[in-house]
Amino acid sequence: MTTIREVAKKAGVSPTSVSHVLNNTRFVSEDVRERVNSAMRELNYRPNALARSLRRGETHTLGLILPDSANPFFAEVGHAIESAAFLRGYSVILCNTENDEDKEHLYTEVLENKQLDGIIFVGAGENRESISAIIQNGIPLVVVDRDMGNLELDTVTTENHQGGFLATQHLLSLGHQIIGCITGPSNITPSAERVTGYREALRQAGIHIEDSLLVRGDFHAPSGYSAALQLLQRTPRPTAIFVCNDMMAIGALRAAAQLGLKVPEDIAIVGFDDIELASYTTPSLTTVAQPKQEIGQLAVKLIFERMGDHSLPPRHNILSTQLIIRESSTRS
Ligand code: RIB
Repeated sequence: MTTIREVAKKAGVSPTSVSHVLNNTRFVSEDVRERVNSAMRELNYRPNALARSLRRGETHTLGLILPDSANPFFAEVGHAIESAAFLRGYSVILCNTENDEDKEHLYTEVLENKQLDGIIFVGAGENRESISAIIQNGIPLVVVDRDMGNLELDTVTTENHQGGFLATQHLLSLGHQIIGCITGPSNITPSAERVTGYREALRQAGIHIEDSLLVRGDFHAPSGYSAALQLLQRTPRPTAIFVCNDMMAIGALRAAAQLGLKVPEDIAIVGFDDIELASYTTPSLTTVAQPKQEIGQLAVKLIFERMGDHSLPPRHNILSTQLIIRESSTRS
């Protein structure tokens, strides 16, 4: 690998002059600049990014930890984060943990060792060890889509309880009395909060909640498919299902079709997230929209403010959800 010294020798200048040309840290004459650039081209010199970042104490790189990069919700939020960081001249290193605690811990260590400028952690699992390790290492951190309880750090979450309530109230307004619920992994706060919203709407309507109407999924389509099959073969059969994310709701649409049930005539289905696919299923999916672009952009705004001032008090941002009514709950 060509060094700065070799470039300086080729250009007939000092290594310091080469460094000033590379980093624009001091005025150099056009003649010196041209001689250095010419020497770098001839020697095919590539600046050592790690060395530069160590000198400057910044890498212009963020870490992004996602629990499931194949899930469109996380993919769309991750895309918003990468786009916002790129506009600020930063790269993003993506780590996909598959909700596996060991992978979460490993990736946290990898990102810490790279001395990144900041980490955005989306969907942290129940185990807080990784989050605590990042905090203890003094790396600026923003957590998205998880309520961190008493941990003092910046968070961006959405009104999950409100979303579950809106979805269920919508189904009640259509006259449904037996409403099933396909939950996410119960140890993950957003899903649990949506279920409390579902329960609250039924309680306010004076409807007793049968535990058999709640079936757990794992946020992936196959679990929504099998949970819906279980609910739809129940007696009496529910006439509507609130599903705690769109991927499972798409699985539920498949189950209804397989049983020869019409949506929404025989079974109304409402999802959560409003991923891009939700507009293109047949029937199109009624869902509770999370502001994915805003979530990503706000997370980047917060991490840059934190990188600029580590002493800022923690900021907890809770963004609203919105019911998007489409064909899977009502034919307009
Ligand atoms: O679709 C994935 C789900 O997991 C989303 O609803 C998101 O909020 C996360 O909790």
